[in-house]
Amino acid sequence: MKGLILSGGKGTRLYPLTYTRAKQLIPVANKPVLVRVIEAIREAGVREIGIVVGPTAPEIRAALGDGAAWDVELTYIPQHSPDGLAHAVKISREFLRDDPFVMFLGDNVIEGGISALIRDFAENDWNSQIVLKEVANPAAYGVAKMRADGSIERLIEKPAQPPSNLALVGIYMFDKRIFAAVDAIKPSARGEYEITDAIQWLIDRGYSVFPHIHRGWWIDTGKPTDMLEANSHVLEEIRPCIAASATVDAGSTVDSRVTLQPGARIINSVLRGPTIIGKDTVIENSYIGPFTSIYHSCQIRNCEIERSIILEDSRVIDIDSTLRDSLIGRKATVQRNNAKPSGFKVNLGDHSTLWV
Ligand code: G1P
Repeated sequence: MKGLILSGGKGTRLYPLTYTRAKQLIPVANKPVLVRVIEAIREAGVREIGIVVGPTAPEIRAALGDGAAWDVELTYIPQHSPDGLAHAVKISREFLRDDPFVMFLGDNVIEGGISALIRDFAENDWNSQIVLKEVANPAAYGVAKMRADGSIERLIEKPAQPPSNLALVGIYMFDKRIFAAVDAIKPSARGEYEITDAIQWLIDRGYSVFPHIHRGWWIDTGKPTDMLEANSHVLEEIRPCIAASATVDAGSTVDSRVTLQPGARIINSVLRGPTIIGKDTVIENSYIGPFTSIYHSCQIRNCEIERSIILEDSRVIDIDSTLRDSLIGRKATVQRNNAKPSGFKVNLGDHSTLWV
């Protein structure tokens, strides 16, 4: 069994953060989503992983290297134009050879990993296994129409009139039959080779495509609100841990659901978990509430923060009202302005949003 992670794409819905960073490298609970995907695949016993990369390839290579840090072997597969998920399979043929593989979209986060799914697929002789999840907005996804016996009749990409509320989660398992399918299909109306069309091709020819209905949470981290939601879920899942080199002074209260990474310093502050504070970050005279992830080397002073993600080297200082439901990029500063005349003063990047 091999792994194939799709990590192309520009992440336009996460602008401005993704002007300067691959969206799959944005951390959730202080770990890039892409690293979570690699760990989920590794945990299922798969070590040979191909990563399909687009314009952000240099940054992804710099972050992941050869994969040895996660005990996997990574092979980078460049995709020169964003021609769809089935196209990504097509260009990965040489890497995949005739082996069965699990394909995982590099921006998806799922509860409970994929070990059980991989085991099911390995123990059966299905040609494909797909993962479905009941969602409130099926029109945004690939959607499955089921037969009465629980098998799949049709898969439709982003239907205006969804035949069910069962969306295709970005995790798929295939055997080598998929290569004939991706070669046979034509581009869709949006100009992409759709993996849904390739799977439909398998179904129409009588190959076995087995659906697994996922009952836990699943997030396709396309937008800032998705990042915050994924962050909340993952923070609830991780086991809290206080690094030996983190310090908490006598004036601070840190509850049992807080994780402090090495060198974090908590001074005269209240921290309520689930929350994670990154390496060498300093929290002073502040309140950090549930579902907050503050990445490394940040300075937080005289403020209150809840349910937010703050990336590395940022500063939030002397803020009167609570900062919540916020996503703050790298090396950003949020600070009270005491100078006259009073009022807001902002340097916002392109595509930024400020709620006041
Ligand atoms: C892709 C697939 C879609 C699937 C979704 C899951 O959509 O085409 O079938 O439901 O991933 O994340 P895209 O993210 O390319 O719009």
